[in-house]
Amino acid sequence: PVRLAVVGNPVSHSRSPQIHARFAAASGHAVDYTRIEAPLDGFVATLRAFADAGARGCNVTVPFKGEAFAACARLSERARRAQAVNTIVFDGEGWLGDNTDGAGLVRDIELNAGVGLRGRRVLVLGAGGAAAGALDPLLATRPAALVVANRTLAKGQALVERFAASAARLDVPLSAAALETPGAGFDVLINATAASLQATVPPLPAGTLKPGALALDMMYGAAALPFLRWARAQGAVARDGLGMLVEQAAEAYFVWMGVRPSTFQVLTELRREVD
Ligand code: ATR
Repeated sequence: PVRLAVVGNPVSHSRSPQIHARFAAASGHAVDYTRIEAPLDGFVATLRAFADAGARGCNVTVPFKGEAFAACARLSERARRAQAVNTIVFDGEGWLGDNTDGAGLVRDIELNAGVGLRGRRVLVLGAGGAAAGALDPLLATRPAALVVANRTLAKGQALVERFAASAARLDVPLSAAALETPGAGFDVLINATAASLQATVPPLPAGTLKPGALALDMMYGAAALPFLRWARAQGAVARDGLGMLVEQAAEAYFVWMGVRPSTFQVLTELRREVD
């Protein structure tokens, strides 16, 4: 079988093995996808041992996406600009790093939630790796405006600076803002902060969202609940990160296997297990 894994710390909670097992079954592939917990000071050594054992590649999750970026000899354009890698292909010419998170997010919003992003006002909360991974694919949809609001304004500004040329080329107004003053009337809100891990919701003012806007948290399960509750109270359509999880996995499966599995059935089944 093709050997794959998700490498993280902690990693025991990861749903990726179940998702990829379903993709493999549906595609008729023999795939062995496991979880590997790497020591915090031993990520690259763990990866090398897995590659030397004949594995084709791996997913990378917290807290190693930045280290994975540094460890790859070659990078996709989207991984280079995100400065974060969640998908690696091991091959003779050196490891190839990619980032499928943003593409997964956009596919979930446009295909699963049915919200076209072109011409919409989009607000991203957060300026860490999760936000960085989303920006290129979001810009590529040509929203009317893309605002990055972060608790630490300077970090948001630095992130926006890194994507400024890309935004200008696509003619998308891209700007940074403080969480308290993000602007008003957004069609789509994406929570890419770690606030949900602390069971808090970023302090956005009333009127940030248009009625009926889509508000998506990249987290799922219990962690996402405070944000989803807040979003519904704002009159928004609330969505957790489960669809993004399945879509980034499908995109990674395509990178390794050359086949894009369909996600609908897998997402439906996973939804039943998580809720
Ligand atoms: P990740 O790789 O998951 O994005 P990260 O790089 O640590 O993780 O980034 C976490 C993001 O969540 C940051 O944007 C952080 O804001 P700061 O830049 O001000 O630190 C944001 N964040 C974390 N806890 C938060 C909270 N309670 N409220 C609002 N934003 C929060």
